[in-house]
Amino acid sequence: YGTTGVNGKGNLEIGGVDAVELAEQFGTPLYVYDVSLMRERARGFKKTFEEQNVKAQVAYASKAFSTIAMLQLAEEEGLSLDVVSGGELYTAIAAGFPSEKIHFHGNNKSREELEMALDHKIGCIVVDNFYELELLKNICLEKNETISILLRVTPGIEAHTHDYILTGQEDSKFGFDLQNGQAEEALKTALRFNHFDVLGLHCHIGSQIFETTGFLLAAEKIVAKMNQWKNSFNFEAKVLNLGGGFGIRYTSEDEPLLPSQYVSEIIKEVKRLIEQYSMEMPEIWIEPGRSLVGDAGTTLYQIGSSKEVPGVRKYLAVDGGMSDNIRPALYQAKYEAVLANRPLAEAIEKVSIAGKCCESGDMLIWDLPLPETEDDDLLAVFCTGAYGYSMANNYNRIPRPAVVFVENGKATLVVKRETYEDLLRLDLPLK
Ligand code: LLP
Repeated sequence: YGTTGVNGKGNLEIGGVDAVELAEQFGTPLYVYDVSLMRERARGFKKTFEEQNVKAQVAYASKAFSTIAMLQLAEEEGLSLDVVSGGELYTAIAAGFPSEKIHFHGNNKSREELEMALDHKIGCIVVDNFYELELLKNICLEKNETISILLRVTPGIEAHTHDYILTGQEDSKFGFDLQNGQAEEALKTALRFNHFDVLGLHCHIGSQIFETTGFLLAAEKIVAKMNQWKNSFNFEAKVLNLGGGFGIRYTSEDEPLLPSQYVSEIIKEVKRLIEQYSMEMPEIWIEPGRSLVGDAGTTLYQIGSSKEVPGVRKYLAVDGGMSDNIRPALYQAKYEAVLANRPLAEAIEKVSIAGKCCESGDMLIWDLPLPETEDDDLLAVFCTGAYGYSMANNYNRIPRPAVVFVENGKATLVVKRETYEDLLRLDLPLK
């Protein structure tokens, strides 16, 4: 992918930088991001909207990987930003991200978080439920502020990897139900209050989706609703936000589409619906997270101990694990990997890659084909860029890894490695 390849020394190279040298310079485990691939992904989404003359916002779902450098890159690429907590909002502000391009999500935003959003005059709040509608209204009155909002709805579509299930009554903690009158109730409440500028509707149907069917069905349901609301409430939605969820290729079993393919099919369908109902074309907003950063990330580990269970399997342990990538333990997520110091060496056996945490479930990859390994070998695990570092934790008091960005032969440290002192930063002694 992107700029990942093999250099003259026979080592893995990312962004023109030797992965073995990265490990020597910055230590392991190390998150390495191929910046040009992230730019390419961002441009892929944006360009398709531009080429088709559709007003759009591509908002990076920062939960996938939120750090100051990443958000600055998102800004450079002209993306908007989706934040889901005060912490993500704080990071965005610290990165100097333009507040009018920030959208705030979440099913239980606190008073403090909503006040922070208003104080920073962010672009829009995606209102999730009646409790929030009331709370936000009160805060707007207290501060005498107006705010743009989207109403998050659950269209009754659950999208999964290869299939989709239509559920009449969606069982989800997020959003107003589109089928049973909840969404109308929310709209009426919001329209009565003149401190709200109701921009339109939002939905998010799932994550790591390979087909467009779910997005098209969601668009169909929501545009039909917009048409109803135009006729019955004289409310014209300006924005149709279809969320994120575009899949990426973690292993050869995955067959995602390209950003441009997802977007062009969505545009085609929305245009068809708009024509059918004789409506104005709304702005289309999307919120990709994984598909912007996922395949740009590679984690480098030092290989350490091994254990043979005769006739069963060989375990090979690395110097990280579920503390820096919890996805295999949490979702049985699958990854591919090679030895960074000889990626082309022929695989002779299958080994299972274990983490170093005190937990049997701390396995990163089962049955990975590898050459015979030696001390000092480095393992490069691919496609760890989304929900890897952002879900890293300090289980077993393991410090979180460093993060470097590589581009055009240059490596830049963007998150320092955590130290033991950092781990104790919040601890207070008993006496
Ligand atoms: N918009 C909303 C409202 C979302 O809830 C999400 C993800 C996104 C956008 C971005 O979705 P993406 O494009 O990244 O699929 N921790 C899980 C993924 C959780 C996704 C939650 N919401 C994982 O590691 O697979």
